[in-house]
Amino acid sequence: MTIDLAVVPVAGRGTRLLPLTKSQPKEMLPVGRKPVVQYVVEELAACGMKRILFVTGPGKTAIENHFDIDAELITHLRENGKEEYLAQLSFERADVEYFYVRQRRQLGLGHAVLCARRFVNGNSFVVALGDSILGLNERSRVVEVMIERFTATAAAAVINFEEVPREEIGDYGVALPKQENAEVFELLDIVEKPDPARAPSNLAVAGRYVFSPVIFDALAETPPGKGGEIQLTDAIRRLIRDGRKVIGVRMPPGEKRYDIGHFESYFRAVVEFAFADPQYGEKLRRYFGLNPHATVGR
Ligand code: UTP
Repeated sequence: MTIDLAVVPVAGRGTRLLPLTKSQPKEMLPVGRKPVVQYVVEELAACGMKRILFVTGPGKTAIENHFDIDAELITHLRENGKEEYLAQLSFERADVEYFYVRQRRQLGLGHAVLCARRFVNGNSFVVALGDSILGLNERSRVVEVMIERFTATAAAAVINFEEVPREEIGDYGVALPKQENAEVFELLDIVEKPDPARAPSNLAVAGRYVFSPVIFDALAETPPGKGGEIQLTDAIRRLIRDGRKVIGVRMPPGEKRYDIGHFESYFRAVVEFAFADPQYGEKLRRYFGLNPHATVGR
């Protein structure tokens, strides 16, 4: 089975990043040299995605503009002897088609995914959060591995998980794995933003999913949950309770997810990507009195 469609929800309000996100999408915030969502799209393209459906909303047109081909800008660079910058626009020519659907009311991530139902049209598909970057220097292949697992196990869903410190676990969907410490495990349950003291594990959903279209039936039946929003996690829980197979994969060692959802994790991403910059990273670390050759990370 070939899966070449990814749904990228980018319609959220980003209230935790106010005032930064008052008039600009959090998915367009700069991390290193690119806006967040460009990393997401490049990762998806590298994992074989040919169609990307953005679930978008009010105030998000900058995302559409970013992925358009800007012929005027290209001509300007050519005519003004700035050809060296043309390479920075090569992402515009990625072998990917872009589509957009509006989430007309911000009723939560689960609702955003449900908005993709007609477009997905009964196929299996990837969901990649538009505010989460995977991988620092290399493009992450996690989605490719997840698709392989999805096909091999005939699961209803495959979800990417990352181990996070206990004190942060309450920000995420959290797995109750059948096999502890396994790279790939079956899910017995999943809980949205649990009280850290009662969290079923330290495994937090890390922004990438592969779904069979049965997720849409589950979403359609899912009432609003935490925060009054229709939670994707609750729909996945419903799949598990209906006896469907849901598989978790752990992010490989050395890879991690950069969550651009709140300031602490956003700042971490900004600093790590700046320190990893091929041109300025070393200088920057020296400037801050750090070992210029040290690797950065948790
Ligand atoms: P979050 O769960 O961080 O929600 O979104 P949010 O609403 O953007 O942020 P806060 O809580 O107000 O700070 C995870 C991803 O899901 C999208 C977001 O755009 C983000 O990429 N999303 C979230 C939607 O598309 N629609 C929604 O209703 C909620």
